[in-house]
Amino acid sequence: MKGLLLAGGHGTRLRPLTFTGNKHLLPIANKPMLLYGLEHLKNAGIKEVGVILGPISEGVVEMLGDGSKFGMSLSYINQPDPKGLAHAVQISENYLGGDPFVMYLGDNLLKQGVSDFIRTFEEKKLNCLVGVCPVKDPSRFGIAEMDNGKIVRLVEKPKEPKSNLALIGVYVFDSTIFDAVKKIKPSWRNELEITDAIQTLLLEGRRVEAQRVSGWWKDTGKPEDLLEANQLILSDLKASVPEDASLSTETTITGAVQLGAGSKTIGEVNIRGPVIIGNNCVLGPDVYIGPYTSIGDDCVLNKVEIENSIVMRGSRIQSNQRIVDSLIGSYSTIVDANGSLPRGYKLIIGERSFAQI
Ligand code: G1P
Repeated sequence: MKGLLLAGGHGTRLRPLTFTGNKHLLPIANKPMLLYGLEHLKNAGIKEVGVILGPISEGVVEMLGDGSKFGMSLSYINQPDPKGLAHAVQISENYLGGDPFVMYLGDNLLKQGVSDFIRTFEEKKLNCLVGVCPVKDPSRFGIAEMDNGKIVRLVEKPKEPKSNLALIGVYVFDSTIFDAVKKIKPSWRNELEITDAIQTLLLEGRRVEAQRVSGWWKDTGKPEDLLEANQLILSDLKASVPEDASLSTETTITGAVQLGAGSKTIGEVNIRGPVIIGNNCVLGPDVYIGPYTSIGDDCVLNKVEIENSIVMRGSRIQSNQRIVDSLIGSYSTIVDANGSLPRGYKLIIGERSFAQI
């Protein structure tokens, strides 16, 4: 069994965070999103993984390398134009070389991993297994229509969905998928849809089944999804504060809080977990960090209250305002006006940014 990990795509709905980088590298609980998928493949015993790179590939190869640091062997497959998931499968045919494989969309997060899917695929000798999960907004996804536990039809982003079971972006295939991919035509969004290729397998009478995820699943298409994914991951956080951490006497830490090496607190600081704080951060004085907040490495926070937010590395925040439900990109600065004239908000906001002031 091999793995195919997708790290391509433009991440347009996550702009401006994805103007400057690959969306799969955005941190969830201080870990690049893509690593969660890679770890699931590794935990399922998969050692060989093809990583699909899209137009914004910077940082992916640097982070993953040849895979040896994860005890895996990684190969990179370029998909410079986002021509669809079935196209990604097509260009990986040589690499996959007839082996069954798990395709994992790198912008999806799962609690349980992929081992159960592989087990079902192997035990039932399937040609294809798709992971599914009930959703409130099925027309955003590929959908599996079921009858008596059997898939009867798969439709990509139906306008009038006949089922609420979304394809979660984890698929197990054998080599029959390559012929199916050759038979499909581009969709309305001009992509070769993997959903259409699996529908072709179904029509040809191949053994295709769906399995529901156990535990949660989160697609991270939109900014609010990132915050929710962050909450879900932080819910399982284990507390760890280094014994030699330099904490002021006025520091209060409650709940699960992880503090990175070299991070310190000054004056009154109240951290209420689950909260993860990276390395070499300076927190305080007068700082409150509330539940479900992730602060990246090298951040400086003073005189601020923040909760349910992701602050990426190297950012500086000093504000009397309370910051909630926010995504703050790397090396950002948020400071109070300090009475300087002319009074008013001074914003340097990139294209497609959002500020509620
Ligand atoms: C893709 C698939 C879709 C699936 C979804 C899961 O959609 O085409 O079938 O339900 O991933 O995240 P996309 O992210 O390309 O809109």
